Amino acid sequence: MVKIAASVLAADFAGLGDEIKSVSTSDYIHFDVMDGLFVPNISFGIPVLRSVRKVTDMILDVHLMIDSPSRYINKFADEGADIITFHAEAEEPENINNVIDTIHKLGKKAGISISPGTPAETLLPYIDSLDLVLVMTVEPGYGGQKFMKETLSKISLLRSVIDEHGINCELEVDGGINAETAKLCVKAGANVLVAGVYVFDSVDRAAQIAKLRSV
Ligand code: DX5
Ligand code: ZN
Repeated sequence: MVKIAASVLAADFAGLGDEIKSVSTSDYIHFDVMDGLFVPNISFGIPVLRSVRKVTDMILDVHLMIDSPSRYINKFADEGADIITFHAEAEEPENINNVIDTIHKLGKKAGISISPGTPAETLLPYIDSLDLVLVMTVEPGYGGQKFMKETLSKISLLRSVIDEHGINCELEVDGGINAETAKLCVKAGANVLVAGVYVFDSVDRAAQIAKLRSV
C-alpha cells in the first residue's frame, strides 16, 4: 500500500499545530530541514521539531538537507525524529556507514536521499542497511517545483534491487508530486509519496491525501 508523507514546508507556520492535525490521515509528517549551504534556502530546525513532537504522535520523517549531517544526528534524534534521512552528497563517502550506524544506535530509522543529478547506484553500497531511500524528483531546496520525469528510471532501478534482494527498505519520492506524477512514481516502484503544495494548498486535505493514496 502507498504511504503519504505530508510535507509541512508548505504549511502555514503561524498555526503549525492545527496544520499538522489537518493532515492526520497521512502516514508520515515530512519535515524538511535546510541550512542555506547544502541547498540555497533556509527552512526550520531543532526547536521547531521539538514543538511538532509535542503536538503529534505521528511518524516524523525528517529530511536533512544540510552539509555534514553527522554533526546533528543526535540532536534530531533527541527531539523526536522517527526517520532520519540525509543526503549522500552532503557527507564524506567514507563516513556514510558511520552515520547510518549512529542513527540506528539511537533507535531511529535511517534513510539516504539523492538529488536529481546523483546516480541511483550511489545508494547501492548502503541499501542493505537502510530503512528508506529517498529519490528527489526536483532539485532540493524549494516546494512547489515541477516534477522531473528523468528521475523515474532511478526509482525503477532501486525498486528492482530492493525486490530482487528482498530488502526491507522503503522507496520514497519527493518533489512536484500530484495525482498525475504520483501515478508515474508508483508505477516505477515508489511506495512513499511526499507531498507539500498538493496537500496544503487545498481546503480538503484529507481528500487530496486519499487521491494520492489511490493512484
Ligand atoms: C524540497 C523538499 C520537499 C518539498 C516538496 O526540497 O524536500 O519535501 O516540501 O514540496 P512539493 O510537494 O510542494 O513539491
Ligand atoms: Zn523533503
